[in-house]
Amino acid sequence: MRHDDTILTGTVLAFTGSPFNDTPDAAAQVHEAVLIRAGRIHAIGPLDSLTAQTPNAAITRHDGCLISAGFIDAHAHYPQTAIIASWGKRLIDWLNGYTFPEEMRFDNPAYASDIANRYLDLTLSNGTTTVASFCTSHPQSVTAFFDAAQARGLRACAGKTCMDRNAPPALCDTAQSAYDDSAALIARWHGVDRLHYVITPRFAPTSTPEQLIALGALWAEHPTCLMQTHLSEQIEEMAWVQQLFPKARDYLDVYEAHGLLGARGLYGHAIHLTPRETARLADIGAALIHCPTSNTFIGSGLFDMGQHVAKNQTVGLATDTGGGSSFSMLRSMAAAYEIGQLTGTALHPAQLIWLATAGSAQALHLQDHIGTIAPGKEADLVVLDLTSTPAISQRHARANDVWEALFPTIMMGDDRAVRQVYIAGQPTF
Ligand code: GUN
Ligand code: ZN
Repeated sequence: MRHDDTILTGTVLAFTGSPFNDTPDAAAQVHEAVLIRAGRIHAIGPLDSLTAQTPNAAITRHDGCLISAGFIDAHAHYPQTAIIASWGKRLIDWLNGYTFPEEMRFDNPAYASDIANRYLDLTLSNGTTTVASFCTSHPQSVTAFFDAAQARGLRACAGKTCMDRNAPPALCDTAQSAYDDSAALIARWHGVDRLHYVITPRFAPTSTPEQLIALGALWAEHPTCLMQTHLSEQIEEMAWVQQLFPKARDYLDVYEAHGLLGARGLYGHAIHLTPRETARLADIGAALIHCPTSNTFIGSGLFDMGQHVAKNQTVGLATDTGGGSSFSMLRSMAAAYEIGQLTGTALHPAQLIWLATAGSAQALHLQDHIGTIAPGKEADLVVLDLTSTPAISQRHARANDVWEALFPTIMMGDDRAVRQVYIAGQPTF
């Protein structure tokens, strides 16, 4: 008999398949309780059968709430926390006018630490238990982020943003220093506790070919690392890439020609792809990261989820804070739904929450650890109150099944819906 077991009761949403391949009710089951042992999911099922397995377990009741795998934000910029919701610019002017001046402040380790802690408090209060974040070009911005994630026991992915041109000199590294600093950070952090280093060239316009080659070589030397960047986000950006790399067949070809296309690649936005790029990404099994609130906020365009799903593309969901206008994956699901409507694909609530959990876990190659509630998985969970506001509550009262009960919270919910978050089985509030 064990004394450290915890049982949570509620509506436990457990995916065993993808609702893009199966019907929602075949892909997901609802259980009455989940048993957590030593930070992992031990069992799911009726409360009676779990208490019979472990009569001394502590029982925490979340009756009436939905218990889901914690949200996974597959693309964010924690250094942009303080400039979220900056008005009136498109991508290149937004970077020069708001983003780069803010990122310069991260040469101060105390400021980096302050923002990293603020960011993770905000994301946790929104139910996000894992993020893949860009840092700034300062190595200390990575240290600040991993220190803050480690102190909270989080599974987290991050990397030093590399840029050696077309950015303020104070933010520019070189091909050699980007390689050396990234390699030192991999040695320090990759695989420590629950932390993963991500090789991070910002995007093609801010790296020389020499820097892209150096980072491609670094990735080949550290093939368990993820690589994150941006791809075909905005039309002006794409024209600029064509000028800078006239020999490339298309934007994706710039990355491929420099060793930066692979199955562990995370390509943020990926809105304006040619058929060749779409086919190549599907061939490789690389992940497209959908950043819906950013794509509307910065005016970038509409990601065609229906097309990508039909081609069996790996897709993760993300906030892209602070180009994205929210810290909330609920808001990102709502925006994905709205963009789906504009591109002819009405995403089902099961598909939306799957993208924000299991889908993003697959994109980050973390599906063996997180993203679903199943025996052996780490117990990173979010507990959602599906009646968190009067507006949501009165719509929820009409719901006929779990999906209808969830959808008003997806469309109208925010951090008030997040009742509790568990990290490796420990409650955080
Ligand atoms: N492309 C290059 N850098 C960025 C960034 O910080 N945010 C977004 N949305 N796009 C980018
Ligand atoms: Zn981004």
